[in-house]
Amino acid sequence: MIEFADVSKRYGGVWALRNLTLRIASGELVAVLGESGSGKTTLVKMVNRLIEPDEGELRFEGELRGSTDAVSLRRKIGYVIQHAGLFPHWTVAANVATVPRLLGWEAGEIAARVDEVLALVGLEALHRDRFPDQLSGGQRQRVGVARALAARQKVLLLDEPFGAVDPITRVALQGELRRIHRELSLTTLMVTHDIIEALTLADRIVVMYRGALRQVGTPAELMMKPADDYVAQLMGMARRQAEAIGKVGA
Ligand SMILES: Nc1ncnc2c1ncn2[C@@H]1O[C@H](COP(=O)(O)OP(=O)(O)OP(=O)(O)O)[C@@H](O)[C@H]1O
Ligand SMILES: [Mg+2]
Repeated sequence: MIEFADVSKRYGGVWALRNLTLRIASGELVAVLGESGSGKTTLVKMVNRLIEPDEGELRFEGELRGSTDAVSLRRKIGYVIQHAGLFPHWTVAANVATVPRLLGWEAGEIAARVDEVLALVGLEALHRDRFPDQLSGGQRQRVGVARALAARQKVLLLDEPFGAVDPITRVALQGELRRIHRELSLTTLMVTHDIIEALTLADRIVVMYRGALRQVGTPAELMMKPADDYVAQLMGMARRQAEAIGKVGA
């Protein structure tokens, strides 16, 4: 449903993406893994056309296909940016209602949807009229996800959504993302630095290194058949972490 065909993007001498070819099927949860500066955000921003390729093209199927202009495409894609990115002077409800309002939904319909989607992400209704700085980091992330899904978007882009929260909240949010992804039959693209997060959450993982795709495959494929030394090294790190945890109390 989202296809990158030989896509490149360069900033001066730096390839943010280089000859990327990738197909994301409808209903998949795909994690994009890679170190800082490897092109993860660039990849995600190309999906909702915040960045246009220098070379190559993106192809969309299904609901996204007819969206010829970037603005109408963006309203069909939920986007949770790095560090939640809520509007600080708007209440939770106003933040969540952003896209439905732009789409001209009726006030009653918007209010009902805000309540529905806050419940979906596990936020109690009492948070509705609070401002972002009155929420915990984890709650803000939930609001970010609620906002991304308020207009019934079927495609969800998340750029390091759980980076800034404590490990307990992080695990809870990961589980909820998986549940929401399934319940709503979403197509989800999630950027992360965290190898374990990618391995435990994703259907497939895209490994980026300096703008180039090193491997794309299921967690098991990456573990069992790493395409190169870099991927092997990443998987080795994950395996050693898991082994170290396994030894605790043994
Ligand atoms: N607007 C820009 N102008 C110049 N260079 C840019 C721009 N945006 C990104 N780059 C460069 O492109 C490369 C990829 O950036 P990108 O933001 O996609 O990385 P990332 O993998 O998301 O990193 P991080 O994990 O730190 O968020 C980096 O070298 C970055 O400096
Ligand atoms: Mg980034």
